[in-house]
Amino acid sequence: MRKIAVFASGTGTNFDAIQRSIEDGFLDACIECVVVDKKDALVIEKAKKKNIYVFDFNPKDYSSKSEYEKEIVQLLNDKEIELVCLAGYMRLIGNTLLDAYEGKIINIHPSLLPSFIGKNAIKQAIEYGVKVMGVTIHYVDSGMDSGKIITQKSFDVLETMTAEEIETNIHAIEHEIYPKTIKKLLEEKE
Ligand code: GRF
Repeated sequence: MRKIAVFASGTGTNFDAIQRSIEDGFLDACIECVVVDKKDALVIEKAKKKNIYVFDFNPKDYSSKSEYEKEIVQLLNDKEIELVCLAGYMRLIGNTLLDAYEGKIINIHPSLLPSFIGKNAIKQAIEYGVKVMGVTIHYVDSGMDSGKIITQKSFDVLETMTAEEIETNIHAIEHEIYPKTIKKLLEEKE
């Protein structure tokens, strides 16, 4: 069984999509742990309901990023994690974690990178008036949404589309391409 970790800070719909693809038999893997940096994140309950180990921490309880990342590296080592999937984890990955897992950490971002990095990417793109929007999955490096792109999927933004419809489209694409990409990467590593 291939072992993956999901890092999240919020709702966890991408966690749901990955877990569902495992339960449906599409993805031959197991989410061994979920790492969350916000004590009230909805994803915590979701993971616990599935009996998945949750490491929820408050960064403010540590003297530095390196201190909590040491604990995370220990956890990933203990759980023999092959791939770390960031899914709405709102924190830059530091050197401690990168040195141990670079090339094995991926992120999903709701824009066609390199456009619209950071927070509120969908809102940024709508305000800019772009006519093509989409989702990117990329390797994680020390920058913000800046690692090498693995895959992207786009759609045309129609004049009639509301912001809500655009957002729904983006999330539907995320939930489709994240499990597929994880599957592909794990198969390539075999
Ligand atoms: C997604 O839009 C993802 O692309 C971005 O953060 C959001 C997380 O949503 N990085 P969820 O917590 O998976 O519902």
